[in-house]
Amino acid sequence: MKILLLGAGGFIGVNLTERLMKDGVHEVTAVDIQDEKISELLDTDLHFLHLDISKDEAEVDKLVAASDVVVDLVAFANPSLYVEDPVGVFDLNFTQNMKVVQQCIRHKKRLIQFSTCEVYGITAAKAMGLDSRTHPMPFSEDETPLIMGPVKNQRWIYACAKQLLERVLHGYGLRGSLEWTVIRPFNFIGPRIDFLPSEAQGNPRVFSHFMNGLLYGTPLKLVDGGTAYRAYTYIDDAVDCMVRIIENPEKCKNQIINIGTPDNEVTIKEFCDICVEVFNTEFRQPGDPTPEIVSVTGEEFYGPGYEDCDRRIPVVTKARGLGWTSKHDMRSTILHTMKYFVEKHRAKQARGEV
Ligand code: NAD
Ligand code: UGA
Repeated sequence: MKILLLGAGGFIGVNLTERLMKDGVHEVTAVDIQDEKISELLDTDLHFLHLDISKDEAEVDKLVAASDVVVDLVAFANPSLYVEDPVGVFDLNFTQNMKVVQQCIRHKKRLIQFSTCEVYGITAAKAMGLDSRTHPMPFSEDETPLIMGPVKNQRWIYACAKQLLERVLHGYGLRGSLEWTVIRPFNFIGPRIDFLPSEAQGNPRVFSHFMNGLLYGTPLKLVDGGTAYRAYTYIDDAVDCMVRIIENPEKCKNQIINIGTPDNEVTIKEFCDICVEVFNTEFRQPGDPTPEIVSVTGEEFYGPGYEDCDRRIPVVTKARGLGWTSKHDMRSTILHTMKYFVEKHRAKQARGEV
């Protein structure tokens, strides 16, 4: 199969590209505007092109025409950006992605579109004023209503843009003009997830903040006490499911598929505690800092317009129907992810760079 990966230089993209190159079954063309992470793979016979889906339409169009399946990962996927630049998030995550949809329709190509578990929004329990700790309500692709907070909480622009894209794909599917599959990832982590804040500008996702604290001594901040839940999936497990989706077009035709690990559900406070325990047990060396753990409000951490998803447990019946199951529990997920960052940090220390 000729696979075109758009956004292949990001966290999920580079791990998926690496697996596909290792399998050697398919012909992969990878596209991104950044090549820092994917440069690790460029000594393989990977065909990588530095293209912008919003500006290099003619080039991307030709690549779509030459492929069998397009996997679109391009998005802003970082909650701090949803709060800081909601219009920019809508533009990239909906408007620019729609160009790819149109290209796939024009050339009659199958599209695998990355959406998000954030489309589910908050739980019905929270919306009804109930406590989602005592009312777990797993999220099922074709049954669960999608509930978001008010417009003044612009955090929901990301979920809203992704949801609109999903609804448009569904509409084109009904018309018979597009074959699509939507993937809703539930909090993947692993090697090459975001940068550490001490090493680059910006506000990454939670693991990178905690890893940064353990390596550089910045406080580990629990937003609103770390009471929100997340269910984490190790990236290799997630990639395994993605490959099954790519290779099963008939089963996945015009389907939305959750990829997640319900057994790896933790509160962010528990997630923080496991990070600290794993670091202390497996990686701590003399001279490493001991950061404090503090609680901050969502507004202090992200600015006004933030609202959290209280709990999101995936129903994974469809993913299991592809013969998939995740193999990594929560501790091993954190252990493998940390190993990558700690080894990079120790190498920097050895070179006298930190
Ligand atoms: P990421 O930010 O690491 O990757 C996105 C990639 O898109 C980046 O490499 C970026 O350079 C690229 N990109 C941005 N604008 C571009 C443009 N105009 N042209 C070409 N490339 C461009 O994010 P990720 O974590 O790898 O997520 C990939 C996809 O999965 C996104 O659609 C995201 O919304 C979705 N998702 C991810 C997770 C997760 O757990 N990581 C969860 C839910 C949804
Ligand atoms: C993420 C992002 O929206 C996307 O990458 C993706 O679509 C989706 O969810 C996913 O990964 O499945 P979120 O889980 O809220 O959103 O992102 P994080 O920044 O990792 O935050 C997780 C939780 O940790 C939130 O409750 C947040 O408030 C909290 N947090 C974050 C902290 O307590 N401390 C921090 O330093 C950072």
